[in-house]
Amino acid sequence: MNFIHTIEKKRDKKKLSREEINDFIEGYVAGEIPDYQVSSLLMAVYLNGCDEEETFELTRAMAGSGDIMDLSGIPGIKVDKHSTGGVGDKVTLIAAPVAAACGVPVAKMSGRGLGFTGGTIDKLESIPGFSVELSNDEFISQVKNIGYALIGQTGDLAPADKLLYSLRDVTGTVDSIPLIASSIMSKKIAAGSDAIVLEITYGTGAFMKDEKRACDLAGLMIDIGKAAGLEMSAVITNMNEPLGHAVGNSLEVIEAIEALKGRAAPDVLKVMKSVIPEMIMAGGKTEDRWEAWELASDAIASGRALEVFRKMIEAQHGNPFVTEDYSLFPKAPFKSGIYADRDGYLSIRDCAGIGECIKLLGGGRMTKEQEIDLSVGLELKVKNGDRVSKGDCLCEIMSRNEAGAEEARGRFLSSIEITDDKLPENNLVYTLND
Ligand code: URA
Repeated sequence: MNFIHTIEKKRDKKKLSREEINDFIEGYVAGEIPDYQVSSLLMAVYLNGCDEEETFELTRAMAGSGDIMDLSGIPGIKVDKHSTGGVGDKVTLIAAPVAAACGVPVAKMSGRGLGFTGGTIDKLESIPGFSVELSNDEFISQVKNIGYALIGQTGDLAPADKLLYSLRDVTGTVDSIPLIASSIMSKKIAAGSDAIVLEITYGTGAFMKDEKRACDLAGLMIDIGKAAGLEMSAVITNMNEPLGHAVGNSLEVIEAIEALKGRAAPDVLKVMKSVIPEMIMAGGKTEDRWEAWELASDAIASGRALEVFRKMIEAQHGNPFVTEDYSLFPKAPFKSGIYADRDGYLSIRDCAGIGECIKLLGGGRMTKEQEIDLSVGLELKVKNGDRVSKGDCLCEIMSRNEAGAEEARGRFLSSIEITDDKLPENNLVYTLND
C-alpha cells in the first residue's frame, strides 16, 4: 500500500476506491500508518469531502475493524440512541433509562467529548467508581437483567473509530459530514442494536451549523443504517444555545438526574418529548407517538426511570447514591459569577464558545492524552432571550482556580451579547423517519 498516494488522491479531489479505504483503516488500526499521515488524509477529507459510496465504504471498513456485537440473545428489539453532539446535551443520559423503564432494551455505546461538545462517557465517569468497560458478556447480561447498559468503545468495537475520533478531536477535522456519519454509524453497526434513534443537532453549538446540513447528515446516516439492515429514525434539534442549564461533565449528570425526577428544564423536556417516543416506538412498544410519551411520563413520574438509572450505575460499579446526594460528585473548589453589565435581553451569539469554556476550565481535551477535570463547568442562570437587569447573574463558573475562571469568563462574554431587542425564538425540534 502506498498511503501517500491515497492522501494525494483525496487532496486532488479524486474518489478513493474500496481497496484504498480498507487499506487505510486496516493499516491505521494495525499501527502501520502514523498519526501525522492520517491527520493529513482527514484534513483532505474535511476539505474535499467524500461521496456517498466512499462514506458507505468508510463506515463498513470502520465497523468491520473490530468485533460486531451479537445481541441476538437479548429478547426484544434492541434500541440505541446517538447524538451528533451539542453543548449541554444530556438527552442520552435521560432518554436511555426512560426507554428501558418502558421495556425497551437499550444497548448503548457512547463516546467521549469531541471538539466543543461533551461526551456521555466522560459525563458518566464523573460518578465515583463508574466503569464503561464491560466485557461483551457483561454488557449482554446487564441489558437482559436491567434493560440498560452503556459502554465506551472498549474491547474491540470499531477500534478504527476510536482512533480516528480522538485524532479528529485535536486536528480540526470534526465537523465533516462523511467523517461524522461514518464515525457514528460504524459504532452503531458494531454495537449490534436493531434500531437507532439519532439526535442530529444544528446551530452555533453543533457541528452542523445550519438545518440543511443537519438534514443532509441525517439522510446520509439513515441510508447507511438501512443499508446495514437497521431500523432508523432521526430527530433534528436546535443547538443555538446550550440545552438546559448545566454545561460540564458532573453538572450535566446532575441535571439529567433532575430530569429523571420529573424536573427537566423546558428545552430539555422538549427534546425528551421527541427523542424518547422515537425510542419507545422503535422498540415496538406502540406505534402512537402520544401513547409513547404517556408511557415515558409514567416511567418518570413513578420513579421507575430513575431506578433503572441507579441500577445501571450500580451494575457498572458506580455509587448509585449520587442520585440522592449530589455532594458525592467531584466538586470544583472555586465558584464565581458572570454578571450582566446592562439591562436587556440575553442573546447567545456563539454557543460553541460556551462549550469551549469547558475546555478552558480543563473539562475538555486539548490533546488526545489529556486527563480532564470532571467537576468543572457552567451553570446558566438565564436562557437565550430572557430579560436581564444590570447586575443579574448570567452564569456561575465552577473552576479549579481563579485563572481558569477568568479565561472562561472572557470566552463566555465574547459568546453572548445583551441586546435591546429580544432575538426571534428559534428552538425547532422535529423528526425525520425514512
Ligand atoms: N459523535 C460521534 O460519535 N462521532 C462524531 O464524529 C461526532 C459525534
